[in-house]
Amino acid sequence: MAPRTEKVGIVGSGIIGRSWAMLFASVGYQVTVFDIIPKQVTDALADIKKQLKTLEEEGLLRGTINADQQYACIKGSSDLGAAVKNAVFVQECVPENLELKKKLYVDLDKLVDDNTVLSSSTSCILPSKFSEGLKHKAQVIVSHPVNPPYYVPLVEVVPAPWTRPDVVARTKAIMLEIGQEPVVLGREIDGFILNRIQYAILNEVWRLVKDDVVNVEDVDKVITEGLGMRYAFLGSLETAHLNAEGMANYIERYGETIYNVSNTMGPTPRMTQCPGAASICEQLNQLVPLDRLQERRAYRDAALTRLSILKKELKNTYKR
Ligand code: NAI
Repeated sequence: MAPRTEKVGIVGSGIIGRSWAMLFASVGYQVTVFDIIPKQVTDALADIKKQLKTLEEEGLLRGTINADQQYACIKGSSDLGAAVKNAVFVQECVPENLELKKKLYVDLDKLVDDNTVLSSSTSCILPSKFSEGLKHKAQVIVSHPVNPPYYVPLVEVVPAPWTRPDVVARTKAIMLEIGQEPVVLGREIDGFILNRIQYAILNEVWRLVKDDVVNVEDVDKVITEGLGMRYAFLGSLETAHLNAEGMANYIERYGETIYNVSNTMGPTPRMTQCPGAASICEQLNQLVPLDRLQERRAYRDAALTRLSILKKELKNTYKR
């Protein structure tokens, strides 16, 4: 099979930029990684090479070609133009700082033609904030990954009000092609979707601990040993659908109870000004001392790796 020729540019070679480079190379895109610090690019390439080899040895490599072939698709550059000119897709992965992103998009605007999709990894900056006023603003979109993207496939695709429909469609298509699971938002909204849901849970967990209803260890157990067991496989709406004789019956049975309980939840906590914050931090430090965070992160990643393998197996066995 002849190697593919389409180019993808990665701007910023930190944690997220490296993952994107691997994902695009996994299906043979010609990936160029740029970073403002040249040593970051060299380090990124060495790290990617090592990661691809390990993934291959452990049978976890994604994509259609082997690790050496994937690595051969990735090169570094200290020239932004070389990375993004004539690219079909540019994935921006610079730090979460609006002024920095604004400045970078002004540079990108001068380098690309009318076809390149300019996609940002931003976790919470609305795309309109850094694309307004650009000549190519209709080509700017957010593709927000979840860390570590190699094992957590969700990508939130967030258009600005002026993003062209074909840019949305092409972003969704390329995400599917590299094996991610895109969810396209109808419009930009603070926190996108994942963080809005995450914050709703975090706020209620916070209120319950602060009000001495439950301690930190037990409230987290409610997630890991209860809700989270289901949520890795079924969303909250499908869970409800299955918990009664369909959703209409669920609403009939539980709708009013849900409304009444929700009304007891209280105002949004302000963590920075909450007297209970010190106790919550102390309990967490007892559970996972700060010098053992890295160890616990390694556990999280190992667990996610196994879960992603299980989910793949289940998807192949139980098709909808
Ligand atoms: P990072 O700090 O690991 O890497 C950022 C890289 O950008 C560094 O290598 C830095 O040298 C480079 N850089 C800085 N200014 C630049 C410029 N003008 N041009 C080119 N390169 C430049 O950051 P990370 O964690 O990879 O985050 C990148 C983006 O991805 C952020 O917007 C972040 O919100 C988002 N994101 C991060 C996640 C995470 O868990 N780390 C998860 C989802 C999204």
